[in-house]
Amino acid sequence: MAFMGLIGCGNLGSAMLSRWMADGADPKLIKVVDNHEDKVSKLGFKVSKLEELSGVDVLVISVKPWNVQEVLHQIKPDPETIIVSMAAGISLKRLAKMLPEKQPISRVMPNIGVKLGLGVLAIAFNEFSAPAHKACVREILEPLGKTIELKEKDFNAVTALAGSGPAFASVILESFVMGGIAGGLSREVAHEMALKTMHATMELIKSGMSFEEIRFQVSSPAGTTIAGLSVLESDGIRGSIMESIRVASERAAELGSETT
Ligand SMILES: NC(=O)c1ccc[n+]([C@@H]2O[C@H](COP(=O)([O-])OP(=O)(O)OC[C@H]3O[C@@H](n4cnc5c(N)ncnc54)[C@H](OP(=O)(O)O)[C@@H]3O)[C@@H](O)[C@H]2O)c1
Repeated sequence: MAFMGLIGCGNLGSAMLSRWMADGADPKLIKVVDNHEDKVSKLGFKVSKLEELSGVDVLVISVKPWNVQEVLHQIKPDPETIIVSMAAGISLKRLAKMLPEKQPISRVMPNIGVKLGLGVLAIAFNEFSAPAHKACVREILEPLGKTIELKEKDFNAVTALAGSGPAFASVILESFVMGGIAGGLSREVAHEMALKTMHATMELIKSGMSFEEIRFQVSSPAGTTIAGLSVLESDGIRGSIMESIRVASERAAELGSETT
């Protein structure tokens, strides 16, 4: 495993650190820097100073976007240290301006699924990232979920779909629970059934069934499902979900231009 530094042990940083430890990482190979000692000690680490990060193979930056510049200006990375930025909206070009010339830099957009190792992580590398650098970053991200290399122009759509997506999916799932309760089920039963129904649907899709096949297999002529589907369609559920993702993507672009 690479010798690694993590700057920022908040929501995301602590989730990543927990996953790395659960995956069997050697704690001696991870240095953690954060303003709050309690956040770091809770995970069994002691707070390191920025100077102690010299010589790390990979430096993961997990502070808020508006703190990235001050952090990068304080560090003096070795030319071979790979900088991995998790900061939403800060482009590789902007990161490069804050770092020595020719520094290998990766920009990552993760989602909340990293907490369980089920994240979706978009990654883009700058031109100074050699194959060995890329392999090293991929290895570090492996325990966090699925990493997909994309062009930076796609990061706003990723932020909307994968980043905000869990919130949108929660609203849909919660509506299933509320519908069950409205139909007379207890909250506990409705909750369990909604989750299991969603889980089974996902597994059927993963097994190769198409969205359409599922809809038609469940819809008997003049039955309950087609009656419910006609309400979803006339209320324009697809349009509103697509629009929520479009608006979130647009907002990601706006936020990016505010921080870059
Ligand atoms: N949370 C997510 O699910 C998620 C998803 C995708 C991307 N991201 C990106 O990940 C980054 C971190 O997000 P987060 O939600 O984990 O933020 P967070 O909870 O605020 O964590 C950041 C931590 O870094 C500390 N920090 C800030 N400046 C520092 C400095 N100069 N030296 C040492 N520590 C410093 C903060 O301390 P203070 O509180 O004192 O500032 C805080 O403990 C952001 O750039 C965000 O865009 C997060």
